[in-house]
Order: sequence, then structure tokens, then C-alpha cells
Amino acid sequence: MKRIHFFSGLTITIFIGLHLTNHFVSIFGIQAHLDLMDKLRIVYRNVIVESILLIAVFVQIISGINLFFSKRKRNNKFYDKLQIWSGLYLAFFLLIHVGAVLGGRYVLNLDTNFYFGAAGLNTFPFNLFFIPYYGLAIMAFFGHIASIHFLKMKTKLFGLTIEQQSKFILLKGIILTILILYGMTNGFNGVEIPEAYDVMIGK
Ligand code: HEM
Repeated sequence: MKRIHFFSGLTITIFIGLHLTNHFVSIFGIQAHLDLMDKLRIVYRNVIVESILLIAVFVQIISGINLFFSKRKRNNKFYDKLQIWSGLYLAFFLLIHVGAVLGGRYVLNLDTNFYFGAAGLNTFPFNLFFIPYYGLAIMAFFGHIASIHFLKMKTKLFGLTIEQQSKFILLKGIILTILILYGMTNGFNGVEIPEAYDVMIGK
């Protein structure tokens, strides 16, 4: 189970790296985000790559929930706890998020681009849910990586202890979360959402 979880996790991590870079680029403007997504979709939105990705997400959620229940009571150290609780949140998030993206695309017939992600983040009262929902997801992703790093890493790197390296990963996650939320909300000033996305924000 652990091996399967590790390899499906690796597959998803490659996508998430590209996906979060895409959201980060929104700090340079909405058009920059839209342009990069157009390019990245050539890579991940073809039948082969997207099927592999969606199967990996499914496998990750099922194996992750199984590991959560088998590990929950056994480990009490900080990074053990961070690993299982960030993993549980990621399982919840991935289920809802990928379900929403597929529903948006095939049921609502929307282009699931920048505006699809930004609609809830920039509309009151939906943002009260979406800001922590997305913010925690990015931090949970880095928290999960930091714990795996702490548990598997054996040596110092650039003079940093394993503990310091793991803290560095956590810090990167916090900074990236703030930058992505800054970009996706037009520098916290809000984004005008096109009418096509009204259905997502109760209009
Ligand atoms: C601010 C945070 C995020 C926003 C606004 C966001 C938004 C989006 C959008 C708009 C799409 C559709 C992409 C497309 O149509 O090409 C998408 C897809 C996806 N996102 Fe996110 N996302 C965020 C964070 C995350 C995180 C943290 C993860 C993983 C832990 C994640 C995993 C995925 C996956 C697996 C897909 C499905 C890709 C596909 O099959 O096309 N996202 N997201």
C-alpha cells in the first residue's frame, strides 16, 4: 500500500508542481495565468496524460485513507502527525476539487481556467470558504512533502540539518500560498468574474 501511494503521489506531484507554478504566475496578471494554462494543457489535457493523472488521484485518495487509518494511532511525533493529517486533508481536497473541475467542464460546460478558480475566491461570502479551502490545500501539500523529507532524508544539505531542511520546505509552502492568493485575487483587490461563471457564485 505504501509503495503504491508513493508512486501515485510522485505522478501527482509532477502535475501539482506545474499547476501551482501556473497559479503563481497570476501575480504577473490574469493574462499571464491564462496563457501559461493554455500551454500546460497541451501537456496534461490529452487523453493519455489526463487518464494517468486521474487514475493516480483516485489511487492516491483510496490508498491515503487506508494509510491514515492504519497509522493514526501509532505515531506521535510532529512530522508523523503532520504527514497523516495533511494527507487526510489532501484526500478530502482532491476528491472535491477534481470532482468540481470535471463537473465544471462536463456538466456546466465551463472553461475551467483562471476564472473558474477565481470565482469563489473573489466573491463574498463564498471566499470565506474558498480562501481557507485553497490555502490549506497548498500548505497541506508542502506539509506532506516536508514530513516525507524529514522521515526519509539521511544527510545534511548545504549545511542545513534535516530539521532545518524540512522547515525550509514548510516556509516555502507558506510563502507560495500567500503569493498564489495574492495573484488569484488581483493583489487582494478582487477580480471581476465574467458572466459565464455566474452559476458558480449563486447569481
Ligand atoms: C489556489 C489553489 C488552486 C486553484 C485556484 C486551483 C484551480 C484549478 C483549476 C481551475 C483547474 C482546472 C485546470 C484546467 O482546466 O486545465 C484545476 C485542476 C486540478 N487541480 Fe487545482 N487548483 C488549486 C490548487 C490545487 C492543489 C493544491 C492541488 C493538489 C493537491 C490541485 C489539484 C488539481 C488536479 C489534480 C486537477 C485536475 C487536472 C485535470 O484533470 O485536468 N489543485 N485546479
